[in-house]
Amino acid sequence: MKAAAIYGGTFDPVTYGHLDLAKRGIEIFDNLILAVAESRSKNPLFTLEERIEILKEVVRDMPGVEVDGFNGLLVDYARSRGAAVVLRGLRAVSDFEYEFQMALTNRKLDGHIETIFMMPKEEHSYMSSHILKEIVRLGADVSCFVPPFVKKKLEEKLITTQVDRL
Ligand code: COA
Repeated sequence: MKAAAIYGGTFDPVTYGHLDLAKRGIEIFDNLILAVAESRSKNPLFTLEERIEILKEVVRDMPGVEVDGFNGLLVDYARSRGAAVVLRGLRAVSDFEYEFQMALTNRKLDGHIETIFMMPKEEHSYMSSHILKEIVRLGADVSCFVPPFVKKKLEEKLITTQVDRL
């Protein structure tokens, strides 16, 4: 099975969990497009441009992995890139219901696009970007969850935000 796949997400910011999934994805697909969604409703900490810049930096040594941004429906974006597969991570049983809804909705929207699930390493199964941001704000060292470049960007952003609020 060699083709292009889309791994979509907000990536606010990317963590080792996302990178683990991307590494698994590129073992199976020729090209893996990390598609950064604007996700305005999630009120991301980083702008779309910043999230793209951060992701590009952390995947630059991963051949076959591309980073792009998109607005609108994931299936429309996938079609526009000639990809017939959407890759998603299943970290725990609690992810299942949401992922099930998204996969079936995407199938209804475009029956030619298939969702494939992979499981990241169990050590990444409990992490999510909002918990990560909370613990950085509270002064925790997050080196075990994100690459050094992401840690630096998080600290810069959160310290600036906190100073602005004082
Ligand atoms: N390791 C660590 N954390 C992970 C992870 C992994 N492998 N996979 C997901 N997460 C975390 C994310 O960091 C995120 O954390 P947060 O909610 O605390 O910020 C959380 O799990 C949810 O991430 P994800 O499942 O990727 O959702 P998302 O909101 O980031 O992205 C989109 C979902 C963008 C793919 C989806 O909303 C979409 O397709 N949007 C486009 C519009 C559209 O087509 N809508 C219809 C879809 S049916």
